[in-house]
Amino acid sequence: MISFFRAHKPVISRVITFSLVAFGAFWLTPSWSEVGPFYFLLFFAIFVMLIASQLFWIRRVLDLGERFIPGKPQRAWLAVIAGLVYLFFWVYNYGSWESVNSHIFRTADPRLRSVLIEAAFWWWLVGSLAGFALVIVFWTVDRATRDAARVYRYARAGAGQAAAPKPGAIALDPPSHARRHFLEQTAVLVSATPFVAAGYGLLYGRQNVEVVRQRIRLACLPKAFEGFRIAQLSDVHIGSFTTADYIRRCVTITNGLKPDLVVLTGDYISWDPEAEGEAVRALAGLRAPHGVFGCLGNHEEEGQIEESITRLFAAQGIRILRQERAAIRLSGETLNLIGIDEARGRDFTEWKHDVYRRLQQVKELVMPGTVNILLVHSPPVFYFVTELGIGIDLTLAGHTHGGQLSLDFVHRGLNLGRLETHYSSGWYERSGVQLYVNRGIGTTGFPIRLGARPEITIVELVRGV
Ligand SMILES: [Fe+2]
Repeated sequence: MISFFRAHKPVISRVITFSLVAFGAFWLTPSWSEVGPFYFLLFFAIFVMLIASQLFWIRRVLDLGERFIPGKPQRAWLAVIAGLVYLFFWVYNYGSWESVNSHIFRTADPRLRSVLIEAAFWWWLVGSLAGFALVIVFWTVDRATRDAARVYRYARAGAGQAAAPKPGAIALDPPSHARRHFLEQTAVLVSATPFVAAGYGLLYGRQNVEVVRQRIRLACLPKAFEGFRIAQLSDVHIGSFTTADYIRRCVTITNGLKPDLVVLTGDYISWDPEAEGEAVRALAGLRAPHGVFGCLGNHEEEGQIEESITRLFAAQGIRILRQERAAIRLSGETLNLIGIDEARGRDFTEWKHDVYRRLQQVKELVMPGTVNILLVHSPPVFYFVTELGIGIDLTLAGHTHGGQLSLDFVHRGLNLGRLETHYSSGWYERSGVQLYVNRGIGTTGFPIRLGARPEITIVELVRGV
């Protein structure tokens, strides 16, 4: 028995590691009945990656220690200290995981110490996950190249000789030591890049606001509204990493763009319902000749502040449209602005029913003969807007944050937001109805933005098709 274990030690240790990773991921994943099969598998895959990435990086750090730190006792002490620090970060930040998994609200802690600890944790988490993903890609490409080369050599040897070559002959041609060394160095360099990128996204990219100008052509736009400019802000998410000062800076930028109308598309708080007053005060400085309007997002619904924040906004002259419309008048002509709340539901079926119910209400608010603009937080609603054909011309939404981590510059839609919806950022058209998805100015989850800059949109309405 012992000799069997000795003979198969590498295989057995691998099987045990894989089993433990799978078990850990299964334990962390929300139950199938709670989130449905798609999100169960998605969360399971994410947690497998997460645990595997942590094991990978711990192994790499231990390797580095063995290479550069002389003396076993010193290494052991450093490993214990590093292990304790590592555990502290996980335990300290466990609250934010709870909020992600079970919607338990965690009060944002704005103290510098907490912000630094949380920032370091998220930097490590995003960097280590992305770095590990790159290592897998690198390893897969390397492996595929070697296999292809091996097949090619077999084929050539087979063509050159009547009989197939002996396997021993191929084994005499292993990858050179220099090549292996070069590949290892390259893999380390490649996998370190996400840590630098995550640092950039945390310290700079997160608040590097972009003003996006989007022209929307509408056949039935009243003449008076030609060139009418609507500023859209979304997903403010006030919290430790999205301060009132930063929001006020966005307000100043927006006012400087001199829009005719300002619209807000939900998610004013992050996890802390008590932050609603500060969020409203930070946005109260928005100015536009035709007013400031908005709708509510899922964070207002989950924080149970829909009534209270609507009142707070109203006191500042900002009108939240809750299954309501507002007629925007200019030179005797009218633009119809409609806003709806976030749909509710414990699962997709319930959510869909609620969307249908709300869109039936929207149908009654639509004004024929003019442009109807719908403010709704979640872009997936757009699909049902087009399916039902309720007379909406343009939908403005937010919610996705453009994925926060995005490779849209490589291929449109290559971002984390795509895991939830096809409409992850920017302009879309379906069945003659248009949608614009704003990337928002705040963050939730990890306070990092890479390839998905915070956005203030200026939507310019023009007549035409
Ligand atoms: Fe959001």
